[in-house]
Amino acid sequence: MSSTTDELSQQPLANIQEKLESLRTEIHQHNYQYYALDNPSIPDAEYDRLLRELQSIEAAFPDLVTSDSPSQRVGSEPLSAFSQVTHILPMLSLDNAFNDEELSEFNRRIVDRLDKDSDFVIEYACEPKLDGIAVSLIYRHGLLDLGATRGDGTTGEDITLNVRTIGSIPLKLQGEGFPDVLEVRGEIYMPKASFDQLNEQAKEKDEKVFVNPRNAAAGSLRQLDPRITAQRALEMCAYSVGFVEGGTVPESHTDILYALSSWGFRINQEMTKVQGVQACSEYFSQLSQKRDSLPYDIDGIVFKVNNMQLQQELGFVSRAPRWAIAMKFPAQEEITQLLDVEFQVGRTGTITPVARLQPVFVGGVTVSNATLHNSDEVDRLGVRIGDSVVIRRAGDVIPKVVSVVESRRPSGAKPVVFPQQCPVCESPVVRIEGEAAIRCTGGLICAAQVKEAIKHYVSRKAMDVDGLGDKLVEQLVDGEHIQSVADLYDLQQDQLAAMERMGEKSASNLLKALEASKQTQLARFIFALGIREVGEATARNLANYFGDLPGLMQANAEELQKINDVGPVVADFIVDFFGEERNRQMIQTLQEKGVSWPVIEVEIRIQPLEGLTYVLTGTLQKLNRNQAKEHLQALGATVAGSVSKKTHCVIAGENAGSKLSKAESLGINILHEDDLIELLTSHGVDV
Ligand code: IVH
Repeated sequence: MSSTTDELSQQPLANIQEKLESLRTEIHQHNYQYYALDNPSIPDAEYDRLLRELQSIEAAFPDLVTSDSPSQRVGSEPLSAFSQVTHILPMLSLDNAFNDEELSEFNRRIVDRLDKDSDFVIEYACEPKLDGIAVSLIYRHGLLDLGATRGDGTTGEDITLNVRTIGSIPLKLQGEGFPDVLEVRGEIYMPKASFDQLNEQAKEKDEKVFVNPRNAAAGSLRQLDPRITAQRALEMCAYSVGFVEGGTVPESHTDILYALSSWGFRINQEMTKVQGVQACSEYFSQLSQKRDSLPYDIDGIVFKVNNMQLQQELGFVSRAPRWAIAMKFPAQEEITQLLDVEFQVGRTGTITPVARLQPVFVGGVTVSNATLHNSDEVDRLGVRIGDSVVIRRAGDVIPKVVSVVESRRPSGAKPVVFPQQCPVCESPVVRIEGEAAIRCTGGLICAAQVKEAIKHYVSRKAMDVDGLGDKLVEQLVDGEHIQSVADLYDLQQDQLAAMERMGEKSASNLLKALEASKQTQLARFIFALGIREVGEATARNLANYFGDLPGLMQANAEELQKINDVGPVVADFIVDFFGEERNRQMIQTLQEKGVSWPVIEVEIRIQPLEGLTYVLTGTLQKLNRNQAKEHLQALGATVAGSVSKKTHCVIAGENAGSKLSKAESLGINILHEDDLIELLTSHGVDV
């Protein structure tokens, strides 16, 4: 825990010195992990806290500041594998603000320092703080001469060969008016979609996955073999100019960025300029809303005094300029303690390890549980009970344990032991060939599986039985009132009214809801059955294809695979499900009890794009690639991976590369994302 400076000032100087020493050692270690090894050991928020604690103690005891304190430096020593580059001008870092008050304080310091009246309005450039890797690029007479990492701010690593592989870094400047020697600085990052794709591929090949897009970008950039870097979808966005010789650049930051854009650099589309600090706060709120929908990760907003003359006057203090500040978003990663691992049995018998955590506020909510998925994931993390773990919750994504802070492992930390028997019904547990999950073999004798199957059956998107919550399902199964979904329809008023927190009224409402749920839709019923991997969308496709249940129940795997969304694995799950006598029996019982649906007239399916081959290339912003592919396939199109004379049309997203050029040279029809959306919408697809 951090101590306030008031508390510290009561203490002997030796204690303070000791505290400073230990903080510095710890921060140095994290710097090394983060900057040198690309393997951060703690989340940024925790690092920021340590650095702030150090800074606040140093501010209270300026005599104790040493030149090697991490507060006086930007990063840590680079690795020796790449050759070292000394920056002509040091690459600085940014101070942080965490709320509006700190932002106003920053503005007030600037106004004071410039000796202006307190109501003087400063023009600020506002731009997202990209979560990637800082880079310096030197151009001599318009040609890329050197690319370097920031390293410790003074000395970085020569990554010229690697940066040359990045499409958004010009090898030769375009346009005119650039200085003879121009240093461009910016951030190299990996877009979220490319990150997901990279990790998908890594998982398929059983390779290590990256924790977040920044680590993936760092790992990709620090490859000694540039051919590997070339395969990774990295991008670079320019955010400033460093050293300049033999020419000049414009007099405001925003105009400099526009000049960079005219010389061939990518600059951030969200960048703008505003008058005064109040407008900065407003920009911050707007971007916070937009954050999750941006195609790249950002961890805050940078505000910079726009006028370069004023920037000069303000200058900088040891590690950061006085004219800029980074306002950080609430942390999406935090550290907490793993208190225990419990095993949950799911609807299909899958046994999932669940981390019970010391509650922690992260990504805007308090998190006390997180799934650990399966034993492969537990092994990958190397997690033990008692460990400090890093939890990440980005946007609406469910929280996950991303890594372990091994340096904080307590001596009694216990390994996670997977059960040999189901924790609920004690049936033996099996691990199926080729699957990471373990499963309870108890089937319907396992109360946990029965409960989950019933919860799923009555859920909103399935049979939508109002008033039958998870707790009540558990009570009904535990009290042996029901053993299967079919038993739900035999429940009696007095039986229900006697349950905990139920009365006559809610019992009769529930019976009415159960009765009403019998008139359903085929798609809902198929979904409610809880067939493995058959989600809402697949259930809908199955219903539309077969129109009624008998066709589906008799279909073989080959026929099933003709349906959108259904691959060989799902097809087998469906065939297995209907192949089991007890499942067929249950369906019959449900129908006898009155569950029914209108049969869907299966019209002759029109496939307007039948016979046409489409190719998708570049990054789509509104749809993801898979969605686009599925929609096109649903309309009968073939979606191919490469362009040939047979290609009917190429859909070109952002940064489309060689496929687009090839299509152009072959005179193939080219559509952009908006045209694709229009095409799909015109054929009745909801996008
Ligand atoms: S300006 C002297 N602008 O944030 C100012 N930095 O601690 C130097 N970053 O690693 C940086 N987006 O690479 C600036 N729009 C932006 C930025 C940005 C991300 C990174 C930068 C550095 C860190 C600053």
